[in-house]
Amino acid sequence: MKIVSVIGVRPQFIKCASLSRELRIHHREILVHTGQHYDYLMNKVFFDELDIPSPDYNLEVGSSSHGLQTGEMLKRIEEVLLIEKPDLVLVYGDTNSTLAGALAATKMHIKVAHVEAGLRSHDRTMPEEINRILTDHCSDLLFCPTQTATTTLADEGINRGVYLTGDVMVDAILFAKNRSENSNILEILGLTSKEYLMVTIHRASNTDTKANLDSLVNALIQLKQPVVFPLHPRTEKQLKHFGLFDILSSRVKLIKPLGYLEFTKLLGHSQKVLTDSGGVQKEAYLLQVPCVTLRDNTEWQETVQAGWNVLVGTNEEMIVNAAHNFQPVSIPKTLFPEGACRNICDILN
Ligand code: UD1
Ligand code: UDP
Repeated sequence: MKIVSVIGVRPQFIKCASLSRELRIHHREILVHTGQHYDYLMNKVFFDELDIPSPDYNLEVGSSSHGLQTGEMLKRIEEVLLIEKPDLVLVYGDTNSTLAGALAATKMHIKVAHVEAGLRSHDRTMPEEINRILTDHCSDLLFCPTQTATTTLADEGINRGVYLTGDVMVDAILFAKNRSENSNILEILGLTSKEYLMVTIHRASNTDTKANLDSLVNALIQLKQPVVFPLHPRTEKQLKHFGLFDILSSRVKLIKPLGYLEFTKLLGHSQKVLTDSGGVQKEAYLLQVPCVTLRDNTEWQETVQAGWNVLVGTNEEMIVNAAHNFQPVSIPKTLFPEGACRNICDILN
């Protein structure tokens, strides 16, 4: 089969690295990079360290408003699909690149496969929630990471083409875990295993509202443990814009975004992680690092129900309390079994 895979942002490069490896055994894959993420540390570093094949097309769409960015992607993906005439378009997750790929294909009557289908935060103010819903509703093959996701799709009337495959991020973390141990990032940063907190923040609702970013910064500067925070470019820009960068950097180690192997090492050795990332919530569970989620909701409910993840939103007091005191009672049973990439390929073969 000829498959066009559409990717564009950091977590999609990581997911695609694992799935591409399997996919290319039996299929011809054409890789289309929308260019949504483009800085070296948000983009090429992942291709280099995870051996992702170079994209066949880079659409170089870059940053802009949702409408302009998604519209440009739609137009440029359509041009590629007209040239390549694939049997299937494969999209990952819930970003503007995901929606543009799915929409371009379905309008041309090309089958769409959605990896990470059926996830919901039930918060329609998140751009990602809109992207997920629309992508699922125009997909022909829906690869669900969890049973909850398949149930959600059934509740929305989507029953055909739904498969419970497991989560491709499990394959990614299994690939990275041992390799990442060679990294000397802890020594470079002067950190001691299990004695520091890791932070990542990049959600629009947290970075673009001054009150929320204020509250997050106020909480982080009160923490007792050493704190390391690899900054997403959006967050760095907004911290500077709201005049919060200097106060935060006086207390917290603010560093550039990390490659996947360094990030996995730093996360795995942290005492706890405070994050608003979707992927990091899951990775924390997989690496057995307690997770404090800086959001009011999550599309990974299982990690909360299992007691491994706690939702604290942007409430200063709750963040500080969870950072100091949250402790899962026991390691939960396997929430995300291995083998998603193989399962997806078996369905496609
Ligand atoms: C996007 C996704 C989000 C995902 C995240 C992964 C959407 C709507 N959002 O959010 O779901 O969790 O990627 O990291 O698709 N920027 C740079 N350099 C880059 C990329 C971005 O400086 O290489 C800056 C630009 O100022 C840009 C801002 O970051 O405006 C936001 O980038 P964008 O891709 O629009 O959204 P993310 O916040 O990265
Ligand atoms: N990640 C990384 N370097 C960083 C921050 C995150 O490699 O500095 C990885 C992380 O391990 C996870 C993915 O990027 O696999 C998550 O991306 P992000 O938080 O940007 O997006 P989300 O998962 O929320 O869509």
